[in-house]
Amino acid sequence: MSGAGPAGGEELVAALDELLEAERAGARVALASIRDASGEALAALMRHVRGDEARWCAMLSRHVRRLGARPSRRTGAFYGKAMAIADPWERLAFLNRGQSWVVRRLEALLPQVEEEGLRADLLDMLESHRVNIEQAADLLRAGR
Ligand SMILES: [Fe+2]
Repeated sequence: MSGAGPAGGEELVAALDELLEAERAGARVALASIRDASGEALAALMRHVRGDEARWCAMLSRHVRRLGARPSRRTGAFYGKAMAIADPWERLAFLNRGQSWVVRRLEALLPQVEEEGLRADLLDMLESHRVNIEQAADLLRAGR
């Protein structure tokens, strides 16, 4: 995003698509990590994160369509990078860094979003990510 002023249509769609691709990657990583989880606490967190990420994919797709564009069908490169990490705890730490990246993108995007419905949805997504990051950090401290 270029900074000053509200994001225009194309720029906003590009930002939402980038987040959509990242969330799709996150959902797929979490889904695969349910299987690979060492212990029920990690599996439960991955199920929870998977549900959240899928929900944000649906929300972002809906707004891209509302803006008259076709939502990206790509999965972010994050997926391949995360799945190359076999150790469940190492992968969780990597996933959490990806979630922190999403938080920074949302924080940068929000001041440029004027439409109230989209703002509310992005704020929900931001808050949910902050909570999930804390839960994962707690589990990383306690779990391994
Ligand atoms: Fe995410």
